[in-house]
Amino acid sequence: MSRTVSAGAQRLGRIPPYLFAEIDRKVQEKKRAGVDVISLGIGDPDLPTPPRIVSVLQETAADPANHRYPSYFGLAELREAIADWYRQRFGASLDPNKQILPTLGSKDGISHVALALVDPGDVVLAPDPGYTVYVTGALMAGGEPYIMPLQAENGWLPDLDAIPVEVARRAKLMWLNYPNNPTAAVADREFLTRAVGFCAEHGVILCHDAPYSEIAFDGYRPLSLFEIPGAGEVGLEFHSLSKTFNMTGWRIGWVCGRADLIGLIGQLKTNIDSGIFQAVQWAAIEALHGGEDETRAACATYARRHQLVADTLNSLGWKIKPPRATFYVWAPVPDGYDSIGFAGHVLDEVGVNITPGVGFGAHGEGYFRLSVTAPDPRLEEAMTRLRKLKL
Ligand SMILES: Cc1ncc(COP(=O)(O)O)c(C=O)c1O
Repeated sequence: MSRTVSAGAQRLGRIPPYLFAEIDRKVQEKKRAGVDVISLGIGDPDLPTPPRIVSVLQETAADPANHRYPSYFGLAELREAIADWYRQRFGASLDPNKQILPTLGSKDGISHVALALVDPGDVVLAPDPGYTVYVTGALMAGGEPYIMPLQAENGWLPDLDAIPVEVARRAKLMWLNYPNNPTAAVADREFLTRAVGFCAEHGVILCHDAPYSEIAFDGYRPLSLFEIPGAGEVGLEFHSLSKTFNMTGWRIGWVCGRADLIGLIGQLKTNIDSGIFQAVQWAAIEALHGGEDETRAACATYARRHQLVADTLNSLGWKIKPPRATFYVWAPVPDGYDSIGFAGHVLDEVGVNITPGVGFGAHGEGYFRLSVTAPDPRLEEAMTRLRKLKL
């Protein structure tokens, strides 16, 4: 007697299909057919990692001391560099031994935090449109995502008063992400203060995902959650070197905040991965010890590109302003299209890949996202093509 070998776990069946995989398939098809596709679909800096950071990786990669298993909790020097960076940048004080945990990119922390903190049946409050990992991480842990719609009329901030009390009572985590992907919205002190108050009142852990905190324009300085009084008692913040130092491929970030929660995430992760290649950690220390000028220069490039995209879209009838932060443009699709239909039309007609808003959740319908992380000549070519688009 033999039993049929079963395939996927039920938990995977709860995860919605990944829209971006389908878009990627279409793009590959076009490329095979000889179309020179320009991708503005992914938020991945085209600018290189600064050479001083690459040099430290090269040196430290050659040292056998860095070839062994790293510490689960990251080098003490890295945790100290993160604490120093937080103090200088946000005036916030974090204990490097108890309140900071380096992660394999912020996605590692974001996807695993629910496994460490959420029980089956717990509610996880997640923004929609939003980075999809908040919801999938909750589902993997058996949690129940509760969608907080983000809408233009609220400045793409969730309406906390619209969350029913019985949902708030069952909620374990709330996700916020400002500056925001995909909408490029920013949150002011007043909103973050209300969010901290809401979470304190209802006993909810506030998870603030802040990888775009340094990608901002015209002197605007995004806030850390830990600049808000009381946040230290309710909150965690997720950070990354990916966007600040053009290090998406290096896989390094961190989660910081309330010590007991950091301890629990660390406990979980000792059972999942075995830390971050130490040479990458030394390079991250180098990154954090300087670089304001590099990030400012990168932001000047993004700001210039944002202006080009806004001018192009506005010449076609849109009415958009360049955003205050992030490298994303979030704009409504023209009348007569849904977001997948419009992205498909742009790809078919002019070979430019943009992201349909619905890929970030049902409330992203009616919008598209475009990333200005393509080299200048490619972005200029994409804008020239868009000007010829028949709407
Ligand atoms: C909002 C948001 N959070 C987290 C991440 C993950 O970044 P990483 O894992 O490279 O740190 C991204 C990447 O695009 C993002 O947009």
